[in-house]
Amino acid sequence: MDYLIIGGTGQLGQAFARRLGSQAKAVSRPQFDLTVPGAAEALLRQYCPRIVLNCAAHNHVDQAENEPHQAFATNAFAVRELAQACARAGALLVHFSTDYVFGLAGNRRHPYVESDLPGPLSVYGASKLVGEYFVRAITMQHLVVRTCGLYGLPGTGGKKTNFVEAILNKACRGEELNVVIDQVCSPTYVNDLVEGVLQCLDRGLSGLIHIVNEGEVSWYDFASSVVRLAGLSAKIKPILSCETGARAPRPAYSALQSERADAPRLRPWQSALTEYLELRRPIGRP
Ligand SMILES: NC(=O)c1ccc[n+]([C@@H]2O[C@H](COP(=O)([O-])OP(=O)(O)OC[C@H]3O[C@@H](n4cnc5c(N)ncnc54)[C@H](OP(=O)(O)O)[C@@H]3O)[C@@H](O)[C@H]2O)c1
Repeated sequence: MDYLIIGGTGQLGQAFARRLGSQAKAVSRPQFDLTVPGAAEALLRQYCPRIVLNCAAHNHVDQAENEPHQAFATNAFAVRELAQACARAGALLVHFSTDYVFGLAGNRRHPYVESDLPGPLSVYGASKLVGEYFVRAITMQHLVVRTCGLYGLPGTGGKKTNFVEAILNKACRGEELNVVIDQVCSPTYVNDLVEGVLQCLDRGLSGLIHIVNEGEVSWYDFASSVVRLAGLSAKIKPILSCETGARAPRPAYSALQSERADAPRLRPWQSALTEYLELRRPIGRP
């Protein structure tokens, strides 16, 4: 087996599974739970993959504030065990992390690169950062990919939705949209991320890398683009983060960029979003 996808029912796991076809085996709960001690080791023994794509995460950002143990169990300690199992099996571990490892530098207004000091604000961000460190410390054969604001066909498991889908669904129902204007990031089309990762693997890259669609935008401006490009009309009200009532603090600015000369460059977020909205129309979504 070439690729083993963990978190195979999620948005990113399914995008890899669609792209890789018979080269990949995808697993997820309930058959495989990453937090069960010994499960990763047994899985690697069963499938002997060359490359493990860890797309599983506890990424319910607000919920994680209430259940830090579960967030750290999945995003940090299970990742530690997975990295140890990969090292023993000689498999390359591709692990996904997030722009939410940043945010503590409150006045930052230029994109974060790999050598910037992280500083998470939330339990989710902190748990993902610990997971990154475990992978980097435990196995030489790793690629830790930080990405941001993923959207595309939603998974059948995990969060089962994303920002773009939520905006489209609300706009179709004629609901007024309240969207934060004081959070800026680099929203990324999941299919572009998959291609970026495969390019890294073709080039034999390793280490920590940022892979996002180029550019930055506030969630408010991004939502306005989604509605306009989808040909919908909806009233969108800009609001501030402090008005959302969200439990977890989010970075005011978390756009990413890569400083690595060998990193794949993804197209600007505007053209990626345009393509996604065109592609999803014929498949009968709203
Ligand atoms: N979505 C974003 O905007 C975003 C932004 C930046 C980075 N990321 C990172 O990108 C990666 C993929 O995110 P995504 O959007 O594809 O998430 P997703 O759609 O929510 O999928 C998460 C997957 O992880 C699985 N999972 C959770 N806990 C598990 C466990 N203990 N054992 C096995 N599987 C488990 C889920 O299965 P269940 O259905 O069983 O829960 C689901 O298949 C994650 O590492 C995330 O942190 C995402």
